[in-house]
Amino acid sequence: MNLFDLQDEVAVVIGGTGVLGGALAEGLAAAGAKVAVVGRNAERGQARAKAIVAAGGQADFFAADALQRESLRAANERIERELGAPTILVNAAGGNDPKVTVTTERAFAQIALEDWRANFDLNLVGGVLLPCQEFGTTMAARRCGSIINLASAAGHLPLSRVVAYSAAKAAVLNLSRFLAREWAPRGVRVNTITPGFFPGEQNRRLLFNADGSPTPRAAAILTHTPMGRLGEAHELVGAALFLASTRASSFVTGADIVVDGGFLAQTI
Ligand SMILES: NC(=O)c1ccc[n+]([C@@H]2O[C@H](COP(=O)([O-])OP(=O)(O)OC[C@H]3O[C@@H](n4cnc5c(N)ncnc54)[C@H](OP(=O)(O)O)[C@@H]3O)[C@@H](O)[C@H]2O)c1
Repeated sequence: MNLFDLQDEVAVVIGGTGVLGGALAEGLAAAGAKVAVVGRNAERGQARAKAIVAAGGQADFFAADALQRESLRAANERIERELGAPTILVNAAGGNDPKVTVTTERAFAQIALEDWRANFDLNLVGGVLLPCQEFGTTMAARRCGSIINLASAAGHLPLSRVVAYSAAKAAVLNLSRFLAREWAPRGVRVNTITPGFFPGEQNRRLLFNADGSPTPRAAAILTHTPMGRLGEAHELVGAALFLASTRASSFVTGADIVVDGGFLAQTI
C-alpha cells in the first residue's frame, strides 16, 4: 500500500493560481488527486490546470474570491458536481501587502487601520476562516477531510517590518489548532505548513535587486538560515502529501510542519 496515494481524493487548492499553491496543486495531482485550482485569476488558474493535465493529472480551474462567502459556496458546489466531493482543502491564498510594511517613511504608528484590516482579511478571513467555514463544514458533515493551512515563519516570531502579516499568520496558526480540536470528533484533520522563505511574485522586490543580486534583507535571511539558501516551491509538496493522506497521517491533527531550511531553529 502506498502511504501517499491520493487516488479517489478531490483536492481544493485556494490560491492554486499562485507560486506555492500552484506547486502544491501539481504535487497533489501527481499523487493521484483530482485537483480544483481555485483563485480569482483565470489566466493563471487555467494555465496551472492545463499544466497538470499535460503531466497526466486531473485538474480544472474554478474561479472564486476567498473573501466572498457566496463565491466560495458556489465554487464548492461546482467542484462537487464536476470533480466530486472535496476531501482535501489547501488554503494558500494570502500574503503581505507593502502598505502594511513598516519602512523608514512609514512607522508602525502610521499604518492605516483600513490597510491593516485588509491584510488581516486576506490572510485570516480569506486565508482560513471563510474557506474552512464553507468547505470544512461540508467535509465535517461527511465526516472526512484534511485541511492544510499555509502559515509562515513570521507567524511564529514576528519578522521585522511585516507587522500585520506576522500578526495575521500567528492567528492562522492559532485558528488552525482551534479547528483541529473542533473537528477531530467529526473526522476532519486540520494542520498547518510553515514555509520559510520561498521566492515568489510578492516578495521578489524585498529579496532581490533589479540585477538579481540579493538585497540586504535577503542576505540577512540567508545568514540566518542554516541551509544557507531559500526554498523552492516543490520542497513543500512532501509535507502536503503527508498531511493530505489519511493513510500517512491518520493520527495527526493540530500539527505544524516547518519547511524553512532551519530558519526557525537558529538563534545565534
Ligand atoms: N513565498 C513565501 O516565501 C511564503 C512564505 C511563508 C508563507 N507564505 C504563504 O504561502 C501562501 C502562498 O504564497 P505565495 O508565495 O505562493 O504567494 P502568491 O504567489 O502571491 O499566491 C497567493 C495567491 O493568493 C491568491 N489570493 C489572494 N487573494 C485572494 C482572494 N481574495 N481570493 C482567492 N485567492 C486569492 C492569489 O490568487 P488570485 O490572484 O488568483 O486570486 C494568489 O495566487 C500565502 O498564504 C503566503 O502568505 C509564502
